Amino acid sequence: MEETKDIFFQVIKDRRSIRKYTDRRVSEEDLRLILESARQAPSGENAQPWRFIVVKDQENKNFLSYVGKNGSGRRFTGEFLSKQMQTRFEGLQDEEKKKAAFKKLTSGNVSAFVSEADVNILVLGKKEVWDAPFDTSAAIENMLLTVTSLGLGACWLVAPCIDIRDEIKMKNYFQVPDEFKIYAIIAIGTPAKIAGPRPRIPLKDLIYNEKFGETYYEA
Ligand SMILES: Cc1cc2nc3c(=O)[nH]c(=O)nc-3n(C[C@H](O)[C@H](O)[C@H](O)COP(=O)(O)O)c2cc1C
Repeated sequence: MEETKDIFFQVIKDRRSIRKYTDRRVSEEDLRLILESARQAPSGENAQPWRFIVVKDQENKNFLSYVGKNGSGRRFTGEFLSKQMQTRFEGLQDEEKKKAAFKKLTSGNVSAFVSEADVNILVLGKKEVWDAPFDTSAAIENMLLTVTSLGLGACWLVAPCIDIRDEIKMKNYFQVPDEFKIYAIIAIGTPAKIAGPRPRIPLKDLIYNEKFGETYYEA
């Protein structure tokens, strides 16, 4: 039991958002396990309001990339113009690095990589189900952890699904009935490189004791 606990926590720690992939394909066996882990996720009232579209065809992946690039570019340009982005990058002292980051974000290229992933999974949720955003998130996290346990890499993308205009384009293209919303794209492949861990807020600043703000952990 001790060993299961260790392995499980290691998978949680090893999971990273992977945006660069090798040419190695995801096997059908692995893909089925990933999708099965989504099916096993909890959902409010066990509604299971999710549906998944597996996208492997290069032309279809290119379409996702095109939509993702436009949506992401528009969103980050908005953030840049409203100065939200400048506030977010306040801590970055190197002006050249900051400029490069702004350029990359506003270009939309941050979401265009989906065409390079072997498989993309479109995550749909029934609009009429109130808990669908939470249900689909639980299913997605299950998939991400399974991906990691298989030595594969994935990225959860929401940016391409935020703007209704992009969502409509994707829904028409993939023939998604109106009763569903597209919540996310999960890009999956074999990691070309494993990124270092992104910073996390320390437990002492996250966890409170009985009342908000009361220390639970000293460190
Ligand atoms: C709800 C949600 C939406 C996200 N949307 C995007 C996205 O649109 N594009 C992207 O490249 N990464 C996206 N990510 C990945 C996050 O950027 C990533 O999880 C975060 O920076 C922490 O890095 P890590 O996953 O490697 O720990 C998203 C993650 C979550 C949970």
